[in-house]
Amino acid sequence: MKLYEQLADSIAQSIQEGVLCRGDKLPSVRQASASRNVSPSTVFQAYYLLEARGLISARERSGYFVSGGATGMPTSPEPIAQMNEELTQVDVSELVFEVLESIRVKNVIPLGSAFPSPLLFPLSNLARTMASSVQMMDPWSSVDNLSPGDANLRRQIALRYMIDGLHVAADEIIITNGALEALNLCLMAVARPGDTILIESPTFYAALQSIERVGLRAVEVPSHPRDGIDLNAMELALERHKPKACWLMTNFQNPLGSLLSDEKKKALVALLTKYQVPLIEDDVYGELYFGDKRPTPAKAFDTEGLVMHCSSFSKCLAPGYRVGWVATGRYSKAIERLKLTTTLSASAPAQVALAQYLQKGGYDKHLRSLRHTLLVNQIKFTEAIERYFPDGTRLTVPQGGYFLWVKLPDGVNALEVQRIALANGISIAPGPIFSAQKGFTDYVRLNYGHIWDARIEASLSTLGSIARDLTP
Ligand SMILES: Cc1ncc(COP(=O)(O)O)c(C=O)c1O
Repeated sequence: MKLYEQLADSIAQSIQEGVLCRGDKLPSVRQASASRNVSPSTVFQAYYLLEARGLISARERSGYFVSGGATGMPTSPEPIAQMNEELTQVDVSELVFEVLESIRVKNVIPLGSAFPSPLLFPLSNLARTMASSVQMMDPWSSVDNLSPGDANLRRQIALRYMIDGLHVAADEIIITNGALEALNLCLMAVARPGDTILIESPTFYAALQSIERVGLRAVEVPSHPRDGIDLNAMELALERHKPKACWLMTNFQNPLGSLLSDEKKKALVALLTKYQVPLIEDDVYGELYFGDKRPTPAKAFDTEGLVMHCSSFSKCLAPGYRVGWVATGRYSKAIERLKLTTTLSASAPAQVALAQYLQKGGYDKHLRSLRHTLLVNQIKFTEAIERYFPDGTRLTVPQGGYFLWVKLPDGVNALEVQRIALANGISIAPGPIFSAQKGFTDYVRLNYGHIWDARIEASLSTLGSIARDLTP
């Protein structure tokens, strides 16, 4: 990354964290050049970049001022959900399918979608790489690429772990059809029908659906919108319910956006090690951080092979290629056999193409630009919510990913908001699909991974009016 980009990123982070607030004056070019020990032209370039991103603006003869960023809206003050002491027979599928069906309608503004805009990905570059790598593909590669998967791709993924400071051997990696398959294989490797799985609340609806499909029971442990799962409540649940596994999102949780600190991840792994409960770590958003480095997976603190780290390229590089993986730990054999007896392997051309793309370089550049766009979008969204949503709305501003978890005023029914919004051509993800209890009735998850324009702004204004009309 160039020096001016580093400087711009560090200022953008201060804006995002609320250290610099809207209206604050930035240091003059001369001051910044002296304090940061860089040339004035580096500062100029950084300020131009931030201006282009809509984060700061120049006022004639006065200097640069923050024009985006921290809003006056209360962030993250909501109490976390109460611990539900009981086990839950999960039964959410009907509601989830209904909602998902409705949000797939074309032309609907996809604030309820779980995917960012496909326009944010280097799809034509990937397509070229796909064409050339498939042409050069060894005819035997469809056999060679059977599970555990393409050796080059596994090596490239192991390299990325290494760069992030984690030792994961290529042999420990199994390529799957997206992260969802990886997560399901892990679940099947460690649990049998009737067993209990510890999950966080709220959680990604596909975790609930997997648990339901396999005939498992869930114990839901509350998660805080800012720093994730409550470890005290988790220990009580481990003692009381003896779960067979724990399924968690450690980085930029869906739907909360929460992030576990390194200390908390260490404590989480220590707790699970004490009870010898495997962790299925779902980390599909970890690359989409706004800070200065990728947040560490909990797997980094695992010394006993208890953590199965699952991720994919679906959210950050190649949606639709359906390539994910799991770094398996001690469950390698079981997971590989399950993969071989269920879907045999991931698509050979997609694996070869992604291996080529990663090898060529350029992935990190793409990720930097994606993160910038998402950060700028987050600021635009939070500003618009502040402007258009009724009093009593609260939201959490995450440090990465592309979801905002919005608490509507007390008593506003999110399913009703969803129904009316859809009639107005806007999708949202209502809170009840994220909990086995169908709770979070006055929450919605909004996706800010779509290119900001007047249509998106108008849709937020409409949503605000709907919420206002439904406020008791
Ligand atoms: C938290 C989480 N995990 C896993 C997945 C599935 O990832 P993939 O598309 O790679 O299967 C999603 C997709 O929405 C997700 O939000």
